[in-house]
Amino acid sequence: MSTTIPRESAMSDRRLRLSASVRARIAKPSPIRQTMKMAERQTIVAMGLNPDDVISFGGGWVNHPAPEAFRKAYEEVAADAALFHKSGAYTATLGELECREQIARFEEHLFGVPRLGPEHIAVGMGSTQLTHDLIRTLVDPGDTVLLLDPTYANYEGQIALAAPGSRIVRLQVLDPDTWTYLPVADLERVLADFHRLFDAHQPRLVLFGAPDNPTGQIVPQALADAMYERAAENGGWLAIDFAYKCQTFCPPPAYYAWSPPDHPHLIAIHSNSKWARGLGRRLGWLEAHPEVIDGLETIQQCSILCPDTLSQMTMARYLKRAVDDGSLRAYVDHANGLYREAARVTIEAVDEHLGRPRLEPAGGLYTVVDVGTDAAAFVPEALRATSVLVVPGRGFGPSLANGVRISYGPLVMTPDKIREGLERLGRWMRRRERSP
Ligand SMILES: Cc1ncc(COP(=O)(O)O)c(C=O)c1O
Repeated sequence: MSTTIPRESAMSDRRLRLSASVRARIAKPSPIRQTMKMAERQTIVAMGLNPDDVISFGGGWVNHPAPEAFRKAYEEVAADAALFHKSGAYTATLGELECREQIARFEEHLFGVPRLGPEHIAVGMGSTQLTHDLIRTLVDPGDTVLLLDPTYANYEGQIALAAPGSRIVRLQVLDPDTWTYLPVADLERVLADFHRLFDAHQPRLVLFGAPDNPTGQIVPQALADAMYERAAENGGWLAIDFAYKCQTFCPPPAYYAWSPPDHPHLIAIHSNSKWARGLGRRLGWLEAHPEVIDGLETIQQCSILCPDTLSQMTMARYLKRAVDDGSLRAYVDHANGLYREAARVTIEAVDEHLGRPRLEPAGGLYTVVDVGTDAAAFVPEALRATSVLVVPGRGFGPSLANGVRISYGPLVMTPDKIREGLERLGRWMRRRERSP
């Protein structure tokens, strides 16, 4: 006999209780997820808006086409019965050797990362899974993780779930009064704050993104040097999330070419999501000292068993040819140019229509704008009045409470939408200022 338990009573039944860490996360939902829910069709319709009128600056994703030769690699595998059969097999837990070798070539070719071998590379199902599993590999209960304020909003949940009982401390990098990125505007102050925080908390792991989500800024070399030196002296780790490495609009700092053989306390986190528009074809990789890679293998055995075989096969096939014939560099340079131009259009439109303090992107998909009021209330009000969606800053860190993140990534191929969305928002903000 089967019994159906209504969902509500199941959730309130103490015998069906979820884990404490999951309950804690459910009680503290991510403001970004909540905002993205606002962008869902049924919510828009329920608000009395026409979904076709909505211009969303909410999404943290890219929208340029994947390399055509990469798509062809999928076609080749699917067209060949033997290869397709192979793509249905497991690979090694850390990924196929050939894919890891080609990733090492990619990094050498595009960024000059030296002496990288397959022993320094673990392939996974995207940087989200890899970051979660890396935290499990490195962080114990009672340990501290140092993040920037603001920083990528998912890190907090990943740390809470992957390392229950650990703590987060934040190094402030945005000054909400002057709306400046402090590592550039006042490096000495940030270095002093960093050393003070490090002395007080001895973090096991320091983690930042370059270029950064949500600010679009790039941590300068001197700060990365200080972070690496302190982490290494302390037997800890510096992890750099390079999700947007191929969207960099200025000469890259030296740490873009750091390699685990020279920097054994460094972990570089990478993804196919943003450079190759492979967000849903889940594939990412970590570069680290072989001991970290071995540790991660133990975790991946329990979390994913192995990364996606089809994605690895096609990546290896594509890179093998595209490095040799120069088409990889041409593709990456072209796509980078598209995002640089989208960033320029965005900043021009923010200045013209919003006239509010903002940060000029040095890379990535985002800028942050000071809206001068609690952004958590501003965002739904703006959506109702203008059908334009931006993301409230609070989820990225306390320094962004009065700021919003504007993503030009999804609109990279439609710059007119960027202009139109910011014009609508600006018109409403001016009306609102006149009659608050
Ligand atoms: C800084 C950062 N890291 C990682 C990710 C997720 O990447 P992936 O698709 O590889 O899991 C994102 C997505 O927005 C991001 O902004």
